[in-house]
Amino acid sequence: MKPLHIESVCVKAGEYSHHSHVLPIYPTSTYTFDSAEEGAAILQNKQKGFVYSRFENPTTEPVCEKIAALEGFNLNLNLTAFLTASGMSALGLIAMSNLKSGQKVLSHFSLYGGTEEWFNRLPNIGLEAIIIDFDDLDKVEKVLKNDKTIGLIHLETPANPTLKCVDIKAVCELAKKYSVKVSVDNTFATPILQQPFSFGADFVMHSVTKYLNGHGTTIGGVVVGKDEEFMNTIFKKTYRLMGANSSPFDAWLVMNGLKTLPLRMERHCDNAAKVAKYLKTNSAIANVSWLGFEEHPYHQLAKMQMRNFGGMLAFDLKGGLASGQKFINQLQLCVKAVSLGTVDTLVSHPASMTHTNIDAKERMKYGITDGLIRMSVGLEHADDIIADIQNALK
Ligand SMILES: Cc1ncc(COP(=O)(O)O)c(C=O)c1O
Repeated sequence: MKPLHIESVCVKAGEYSHHSHVLPIYPTSTYTFDSAEEGAAILQNKQKGFVYSRFENPTTEPVCEKIAALEGFNLNLNLTAFLTASGMSALGLIAMSNLKSGQKVLSHFSLYGGTEEWFNRLPNIGLEAIIIDFDDLDKVEKVLKNDKTIGLIHLETPANPTLKCVDIKAVCELAKKYSVKVSVDNTFATPILQQPFSFGADFVMHSVTKYLNGHGTTIGGVVVGKDEEFMNTIFKKTYRLMGANSSPFDAWLVMNGLKTLPLRMERHCDNAAKVAKYLKTNSAIANVSWLGFEEHPYHQLAKMQMRNFGGMLAFDLKGGLASGQKFINQLQLCVKAVSLGTVDTLVSHPASMTHTNIDAKERMKYGITDGLIRMSVGLEHADDIIADIQNALK
């Protein structure tokens, strides 16, 4: 029976056998063949079977199926997913499988710091990234029209940590006109809040480390693609040769996390709304960035392409760098840590933590000011989170 609601897909999708109620963990590097002939048939793709865990693993496969089912929910697409060792390896695999030496990836301002650093390193391997403002779609079109070496557009929406959003549908329409593929980093929204394939994306990637796992127990990533032929040939080959596979134990942890994803996302969103509304009333704060505020520059776009506003927010302390550090140090309930999307509230100060390797002038350009605090609102009671913030701001 095909599940009708996304909550049921989260619990049920991803098949495995042997009458185990819960997905078993297969901590094996290799698999036995009954005969030389069977080994040959499996290796030549004439028979289904497992060969080696860098290629595929019986714990990992159902997790890939579940994530593909979620990203493609109600879309009538045949999606293929590969679980990877990290979000960064997912990004690397998208670039390595799509681009040839001399080609470029086109992306936008304000990306996750690691993504930005990876793009800056592309020239070392004969590739390049062009980073422009995607608020100006005419400019995007001009670049696509004039530069025939662009082989991929990469979007991160909402972006980490500024919550800048990009119009996925509009970019996909432009990309189609110039025969360029589009990948979307859907880490902040998750398929519960946003399905980039419904707007025409070709690939979706995640740092599974975040909301999909949800409990802070894994480093992982995933790439989902809609071109079955590409995913099962070029992408699969690149994946196997890069050795970027997930471990079976990590995959198992992700499987468990995914089962509660809709419940968690609902509470993350509700708590973030309450915290954001409180922050707005505090005089120590210059401004609060939460996509749910009508005056947020990306509110309308978020409303158009997301089902809710997410669990992330950012706010700017009036006192700059020193205030940012002082605030972080006073927190007692909220955890001082990088990363996001876990059951507990994680708070970071990008200027002194995640973005220390990026030139101050450069980060200011993307809205990462000295006093900016990024908050991944967790599942504690909203009143307790607010009380902790209130105390730290005293
Ligand atoms: C939006 C986004 N994409 C990609 C990554 C990289 O993921 P990972 O740390 O799992 O490699 C991160 C990490 O914070 C992220 O926030």
